[in-house]
Amino acid sequence: MEKVIVQAPATTSNLGPGFDIHGLALDLMYDIVEIVKTNGKGIQIEVEGVGANRISTIPKYNTAGRVALEFLKRYGKYGLKIKIIKGIPPGSGLGSSAASAAATSVGLNALFQAKLNNLDLTEIASKGEVASAGVAHADQVAASIYGGFIIVYSYKPLSVIAFPPPRNVEFALVVPQNIEKTTKQARAILPKKVALSNVINNLGACSLVTAGMILSNPELIGLGMNNDCIIEPVRSSLYPGFMKVKAAAINSGALGATLSGAGPTIIAVVNPFKTSAQEVSKAMKEAYESEGIMCKSYVCHATTGAKIINLT
Ligand code: HSE
Repeated sequence: MEKVIVQAPATTSNLGPGFDIHGLALDLMYDIVEIVKTNGKGIQIEVEGVGANRISTIPKYNTAGRVALEFLKRYGKYGLKIKIIKGIPPGSGLGSSAASAAATSVGLNALFQAKLNNLDLTEIASKGEVASAGVAHADQVAASIYGGFIIVYSYKPLSVIAFPPPRNVEFALVVPQNIEKTTKQARAILPKKVALSNVINNLGACSLVTAGMILSNPELIGLGMNNDCIIEPVRSSLYPGFMKVKAAAINSGALGATLSGAGPTIIAVVNPFKTSAQEVSKAMKEAYESEGIMCKSYVCHATTGAKIINLT
């Protein structure tokens, strides 16, 4: 095999209370990664598409590059040319770095005929996240690789369980155009220790999100999503207007709203049989923009994971 092209979806993670453990693949935006084996040595990276100018092409500072370095360490000495076509804006909280890492992991598995399973691919892809987050969190790479709803139920050893995308659930999102926060910054402000009462609260809320995802029940997802008392209260201080956007989402019929990943995107869950997700996203956009934060609004659904588009 000489060349592979892979498409990997955007993801949302945490879903409120499930910090670093819950992830969901979204049919919202995609990164495409093309990888070619070359005669030379080393890894050459080219990035185009949305936010490309903000992404390093030096392999160890690039999420796809870090994944490729890991593969080369394990599977042999090839030269690689990697072209990343960004469809997911970096620094948005929609798993932009994760999608590039996931696509590279899935692509190199095929190119090297390494026969790794999704968990192995997730573990390698999570190493790519160190380039943007400073730590190998696996929630977004797992969602981008497995698709559907995933739970990272252990980090040592890495363990993931995946469920099919929930049906009859819609998501409304607002993605700010002019806030630049890195995941590293958004993690640095988080508490190192947490009160037991807050842990109990978040375990209950996580259980609701999990039940809602498995039962395709947007009401349960919303109830859980709205009840993070550990991360959201701290992180939302980074994003002026967050409370206003959340209130606008709920007032226009959303069942729950929270930061997507590390933010600044805000995601709301909607029962499409009762509420127009389009209307919810419009209300959220108006609320963010009334705080001077220009943004784009979207409606999307859960989807499947990374796909090989071409292998030759
Ligand atoms: N779970 C990670 C975090 C996702 O919240 O920091 C980063 O996008």
